[in-house]
Amino acid sequence: MEKIESMNTELLEAVSIPVKKYHIKTWGCAMNEYDSQRIGEMLQSLNYESTSNLSEADLVILNTCHIREKATEKVYSDIGRLKILKDRRRSIGQNLIIGVSGCVAQAEGDEIIKRAPSVDLVFGPQTWHKLGEMLEQLQSSKVCNTDFPVEEKFDNLPKIFDKKRIQNGSAFVAIQEGCDKFCTYCVVPYTRGSEYSRPVWQVLEEVSKLVQEGAVEITLLGQNVNNYPGLGHDNTSWSLGKLIRRLAELKGLQRIRYTTSYPAEVDDDLISAHRDVEKLIPFLHLPIQSGSNRILKAMNRNHTVEFYLDLIARLRSANPKLAFSSDFIVGFPGETEEDFQDSLKVIDAVGLIQSYSFSYSARPGTPAALMPNQVPEDIKHERLLRLQQHLKTHQQRFNDSCIGMEFTVLLEREGKIAGQLVGKSPYMQAVRVDNPQGHMLGDTVKVKVLQSHPNSLTAVVV
Ligand code: 5AD
Ligand code: SF4
Repeated sequence: MEKIESMNTELLEAVSIPVKKYHIKTWGCAMNEYDSQRIGEMLQSLNYESTSNLSEADLVILNTCHIREKATEKVYSDIGRLKILKDRRRSIGQNLIIGVSGCVAQAEGDEIIKRAPSVDLVFGPQTWHKLGEMLEQLQSSKVCNTDFPVEEKFDNLPKIFDKKRIQNGSAFVAIQEGCDKFCTYCVVPYTRGSEYSRPVWQVLEEVSKLVQEGAVEITLLGQNVNNYPGLGHDNTSWSLGKLIRRLAELKGLQRIRYTTSYPAEVDDDLISAHRDVEKLIPFLHLPIQSGSNRILKAMNRNHTVEFYLDLIARLRSANPKLAFSSDFIVGFPGETEEDFQDSLKVIDAVGLIQSYSFSYSARPGTPAALMPNQVPEDIKHERLLRLQQHLKTHQQRFNDSCIGMEFTVLLEREGKIAGQLVGKSPYMQAVRVDNPQGHMLGDTVKVKVLQSHPNSLTAVVV
């Protein structure tokens, strides 16, 4: 008996492979967040384990964003810090693999390794399914893979499912990737490649799995998520509206969101889904970018202010509860004070309840970077502050209008006060619930709003 036990131990020792640890840092959009989760699953299938502690990681991946200059520069300062860690490891005979993925990797390719030789591995957003091969190649040389096999990626997703993908009941699912719109300021068409929609069966399979594992809210992701011509089981092309209707049939799934939408491609099917599908959240992020038709034309946005306002009106008549957020860029080349004032006016005209706003950042290789009349930094900065102040006033007004309202909240985290839980309203507001009445994180509860604050609401369970 003893002999058998010792034989088993020896056998186990012989086959056990030391588990390596990875750490991923993510910048940028929800799509990058999603990619990081799947990169993590890929690494787990390669016998790696996640660690939040950088100092014990064998592999660090910086999953980067190239959309504005600041984000790109932060990557290089992080690589500098990792180099110190790598040198320290080397001095004691150990290794640290530094990988750069995402849109900076795609845009700069092996230039990254030339500028920062401590980087071992560079791969774009469409090649992370090949991590196994790449890590093997690393044994003999540095690796840079910036191909665009987007279909192949979705056909070779990791087999491991990481429960951490569901955060307090909520999870992301990419249904569409890439962009063919070529707005003149934007790097995305160059870094993410052309538009590709995943087939319906793949999306259904992924969402069903997430729901089975406890997700109650799904956010469908895509650079132009509303231009989703996914291939259905019936060999026809499904629109986003049709996909949403099908997903809404899944028992257990309570909330459906989608982001980011391209105004010129919102179709009647999607508008009617907002009328008919109760699970579809009455909140839509619809980037306009500017309130000036002249600037929109220079941006190559394919919509006018009038078109945008009419679209909002059509959506509101389908569902009067709908509220909107948007993206704005201030200081696009040639933007005058008058153009800027038009952006402020559009915020009023729509009654946007929140929005993201950015100072224009010239990106190498994009047409706008070469346009004349670039706006000086101090003017951009000053306009950004004014726009943000204006947005804040609207946000506060909307929050005030919620007092007395009842809606369901998905509980996400603990509040600062003992016993308090904080959730997310259908309109993405943080809602502090003072009397959770035994409800737990991940639950959806019906609450009544008692107070409003600039960035949150206070409510009680009803
Ligand atoms: N400068 C500033 N903001 C930009 N965005 C995209 N490219 C740029 C740029 N070059 C903003 C747009 C887009 C959001 C994701 O980022 O508003 O909708
Ligand atoms: Fe960039 Fe325009 Fe495509 Fe959006 S639609 S990703 S802003 S090019």
